[in-house]
Amino acid sequence: MMTLFFTTLLFISSAFANSLNVKLDGEFVIEMKEEDLKKSNTQVVEFYNFVTKKSEPYKGVRLRELFKKVFTGPHNIVEVEFISKNGFKSYISLDQARLGDPILAFERADGEKFVRYSQKEKALVDLGPYYVVWNLKNVPLPQQPFYSSIYQVVGVNLITSSMNFGIDSKESNESIELGARTYKRYCLSCHALNGTGGDLGVSLLKFQVLKEKGANYIKQYALDPLKSNPRTKMLPLPAFKNREAMAQGLVDFLAFVEDPKHTLREAEKLPNKKRYLLLKALLEDAKAK
Ligand code: HEC
Repeated sequence: MMTLFFTTLLFISSAFANSLNVKLDGEFVIEMKEEDLKKSNTQVVEFYNFVTKKSEPYKGVRLRELFKKVFTGPHNIVEVEFISKNGFKSYISLDQARLGDPILAFERADGEKFVRYSQKEKALVDLGPYYVVWNLKNVPLPQQPFYSSIYQVVGVNLITSSMNFGIDSKESNESIELGARTYKRYCLSCHALNGTGGDLGVSLLKFQVLKEKGANYIKQYALDPLKSNPRTKMLPLPAFKNREAMAQGLVDFLAFVEDPKHTLREAEKLPNKKRYLLLKALLEDAKAK
């Protein structure tokens, strides 16, 4: 009986190996089969590879096409979460995603192998089943650092609640906003906040890392994690001109979200269900402390 179960499971997972799962607020919506995706309007996007200093053409389906298939009418999606094969998650706001107009690439357009060098894994990695390639020519230069090249994508989760962590309030400022964007792009995949994000790293809030260890500790960890921990699994913030400002922003952002009174004031503005979820997360955080 067990064997039959596992063989069936194996069969199912291999039959749809390259399909893409689409979710809405974490709930399964549709599974898009590879052949259907390939039948949509495909497009070729050039990606400039900073390691090889060469332009690489990729072929895939525009995220926009995918959206059209899933939503025929209006929708209230504000964030996009890309889910990779190993469970790694990457986040971008829908507005930013629209501007970057990416394709979900499934092959190289020039017949080259569908692989890329990964800084994280220090090796060539397979990019399939889907590789997010942004159309960066329309994105202003200062915003380009916030677009990740995400590989081995198996799912897209469309989120209707805003993940701006209250930074659109009056109490926010430019540094906090830069920090929030930096956090979402470079930290959230491993350090979850209010129940969103990955758990490879500890919850910086729950363990009150800012209060316990100080601003400089966090800045140094973000800028040069190897110096903080020779066996670290973290990558440093990339060598952008404003990386010091990004690190300061991270600290300001964490200080901002660490203030529960502030979070409660923000919660007052949310619809009931979201307010409930936020309060629940806060309560769990408080219990864990
Ligand atoms: C790939 C996953 C990953 C990413 C992305 C990541 N971290 Fe980490 N982080 C970890 C892990 C794992 C640890 C545990 C120790 C280690 O590996 O250095 C950690 C530890 C830390 C610590 C030390 C915590 C403590 O209790 O001393 C800080 C501070 C930190 N990370 C901040 C950040 C910031 C800020 C970012 C974004 C710029 C970030 N991390 C991005 C995985 C990650």
